[in-house]
Amino acid sequence: MNVHLLPQTRQLRALHTVVRDRHAGLDSFVLHSRRIIRLLLEAGLDQLPFAEHDVTTPVGATYRGLRHSVDVCAVAVVRAGESMEAELRELLPGIRIGKILIQRDKKTKLPHLYYSHLPPGIADSHVLLLEPMLATGGSANAAIDVLLKAGVREENIILIDFIAAPEGLRAVSEAHPRIKVVVSSIEERLNENAFMVPGIGDFGDRYFGTTVTGAR
Ligand code: PRP
Repeated sequence: MNVHLLPQTRQLRALHTVVRDRHAGLDSFVLHSRRIIRLLLEAGLDQLPFAEHDVTTPVGATYRGLRHSVDVCAVAVVRAGESMEAELRELLPGIRIGKILIQRDKKTKLPHLYYSHLPPGIADSHVLLLEPMLATGGSANAAIDVLLKAGVREENIILIDFIAAPEGLRAVSEAHPRIKVVVSSIEERLNENAFMVPGIGDFGDRYFGTTVTGAR
């Protein structure tokens, strides 16, 4: 599978140490998550096609540079994926952002699609699919199916995950082998409640402050 795991630097592990601490406060959780999200998005943009583009520097020399050669938009899987939007807008202020609302059934853990609203012309775009948690992979696969039905090419989808379980990566790669994935950590496994271990808990609840424990 085409997985780009962020370099596991000490700095990245220090950021993860803050957000994985069950006692992290909401402000600290958001701040440090956003720092990791910025790294993920920059790595995601690196997965796009580039074309050569030369510029003249202030000293009159030519810098043989690059710039993106394709249209790009984003789609956030509500709710947790919305945590990545603010950071993305910092990087690409004019980017169009679609929404797909998928929620896992609390008991069965199966994803249910409630709503989608995609940017017009998405079929001709490369798409950053913002879905921070890849546990069983069910939600990501359901979101990818929505994009494919809208005409997006599988190889033009870049899934941006905060953390992923091996089970989820396997499920996505089996269903959609040409997807690219950018992730900051691959976890050990899923537990009996389909939560990742060591994991981070429910990212959406922790980021938006709707959990009863942690990140309050
Ligand atoms: C969580 C998470 C992912 C999904 C991952 O969403 O944000 O969307 O579960 O699990 P999966 O890979 O097993 O499908 P949840 O349905 O809890 O909604 P939330 O985003 O509102 O937290």
